[in-house]
Amino acid sequence: MCGIIGSTGEAASLNDLVEGLARLEYRGYDSAGVAVVRADGTLERIRAVDGTASLKLLAELTKDKSDGYIAGLGHTRWATHGRVTTDNAHPHFDCSGGVGVVHNGIVENFRELKSELEKGGHVFTSQTDTEVIAHLLEAYLKEGLSLKEAVTTSMSRLRGAMSFVAIDASDPKVLVATKRMAPLIVGSGQGINFVASDIPAILGKADCFYQVGDDQVVVVSPDGNRLFDLFGKAVELSEISVEWDLEAAARGGYQDFMSKEIFEQPSAVRDTLLGRVNEQGEIALDEMRLDPEELRRINKIFIVGCGTSYHAGMVAKYAIEHWTRLPVELDISSEFRYRDPVLDQQTLVIGVSQSGETLDTIAAMKEATMLGAKTLVVSNVMGSSMARAADAVLYTRAGPEIGVAATKTHTAQISALLVLALYLAQVRRSMYASEISEIYSEMFRLPEKIEQVLTSDAAIEEVAQSMVGVKRFYFIGRHVGYPVALEGALKLKEISYLPAEGYPAGELKHGPIAMIDSDAVVFGIVTRTRLWEKTISNVEEVRVRGAKIVLVANEGDTESIALGDAIFEVPQTHPLLAPVLDVIPLQLFAYHLALSLGNDVDRPRNLAKTVTVE
Ligand code: F6R
Repeated sequence: MCGIIGSTGEAASLNDLVEGLARLEYRGYDSAGVAVVRADGTLERIRAVDGTASLKLLAELTKDKSDGYIAGLGHTRWATHGRVTTDNAHPHFDCSGGVGVVHNGIVENFRELKSELEKGGHVFTSQTDTEVIAHLLEAYLKEGLSLKEAVTTSMSRLRGAMSFVAIDASDPKVLVATKRMAPLIVGSGQGINFVASDIPAILGKADCFYQVGDDQVVVVSPDGNRLFDLFGKAVELSEISVEWDLEAAARGGYQDFMSKEIFEQPSAVRDTLLGRVNEQGEIALDEMRLDPEELRRINKIFIVGCGTSYHAGMVAKYAIEHWTRLPVELDISSEFRYRDPVLDQQTLVIGVSQSGETLDTIAAMKEATMLGAKTLVVSNVMGSSMARAADAVLYTRAGPEIGVAATKTHTAQISALLVLALYLAQVRRSMYASEISEIYSEMFRLPEKIEQVLTSDAAIEEVAQSMVGVKRFYFIGRHVGYPVALEGALKLKEISYLPAEGYPAGELKHGPIAMIDSDAVVFGIVTRTRLWEKTISNVEEVRVRGAKIVLVANEGDTESIALGDAIFEVPQTHPLLAPVLDVIPLQLFAYHLALSLGNDVDRPRNLAKTVTVE
């Protein structure tokens, strides 16, 4: 998640470029920067690193520098490779300083390309994956290729999902951009042409917007935008019809951030998985800061977290225990440190926190460090307090989450934790390499399967609307269906303000079933896992007591489907990966019910996005 933009043409200005970047702030704000070709043919770079104020600082630094603008690139960074420093801020340059690049996404094979380029005499000044693109372009330009040809050839050598824009000061009015599985559009206005990560960045400045397809290359110049395929053949531009106003555009055209973030889950999960397998097909978590030898010495794991993060941790407990045979204890952060937990140097404590700033989890991690344990944090925010303090860190790459109710960071957390579980199994040799790679390949199918689940949005909305007036909801599931039930209930409570409880389905008969009557709605998580038959029996027990039944079931599972008053179908996957899919219809249900009740889904009452009090 980063934001990129470029502009050229007689009406183009540095102010517009920086303003466009500000509208891309939601894509990340670890740092911001621009590179501008001046009338004298030089490429000038201005970069700002000031945490959340980076874009403001950039606006100040560029305020009086509009004169002589020919064309330029801009970037707002959400760091993935390389710490948040000025050297790592974009744009990145080649050795000559004449070629500039802004990039969004990950170059998975950057290490191998970097070492090849270094052998060829290129000197790198950052720790980013992006910089290899600038040097690759330099190498191809030196061979006599045009910038368009250099971009095309470079793209064929880069692995991973990404988009980038390049500029060459020796042909100052032209920008060349490309993309693969990452957003990129072009726009044209009076005397100005743009390329950008998304429409909001240039809304009100461009009159027409066009799509760029995967592996296509677009040449943006003062006389127009021209699109080419990977073989250099011209492709017709296809126009996007845009009816948003500026405010709607900040939410990417969605009604609110929560729905935007629910629908961003395919890319949140994909980005979290990308770049974590090396050339040998092994899981490589280089950024983690704990070496394999240390991980082999671990004999017990604790997972701590709050709310939604705790639920992601619960899914991980099942996976880690099953795949590594290491015992895993799970704790709510605010309970952990007051219960005198038994841990030592051979214990690994995993803190799960979207923000990395939740006080309860920070305190739990501190307690773990004090007792001598190794600590690892799974966080969505680079350089967060927890990420800085822990021995090891594994980042989710969901991009900034604005809606208070966590959605995309939850599925990204589960994905990251599952990768971690497989990595532990690999390091400790508790699974065959073939088994690990089979599961990892299935994980890569999740984004597509999430897309499929999201197509049920309208049907789920209808079910939600039919339940306005229901006073009590229960969510039941077993095994990894249990954390899904808890998360489904939490989402509903948070934004609908209605009583909603999650239970392990087998536990109902020990008490909670006394509450079941015809006023109750029970959600059953009955996707096909080892305990499907038992969960179905538990669903039957509440059905015969008059409850209305909504089931999250696998597509085409007629046996399950026959038992529900309403069905949310999801594709089948590996049983331990199922929570990533199963939770999504429940997020959508909570969202639509809350909207039907007239609630503010982005800012639910009494809640804060980051809880920094105990
Ligand atoms: C639920 C929600 C909260 C957070 C919890 C932990 O939608 O957002 O339950 O999950 O406050 O926050 P982080 O993950 O930032 O530690």
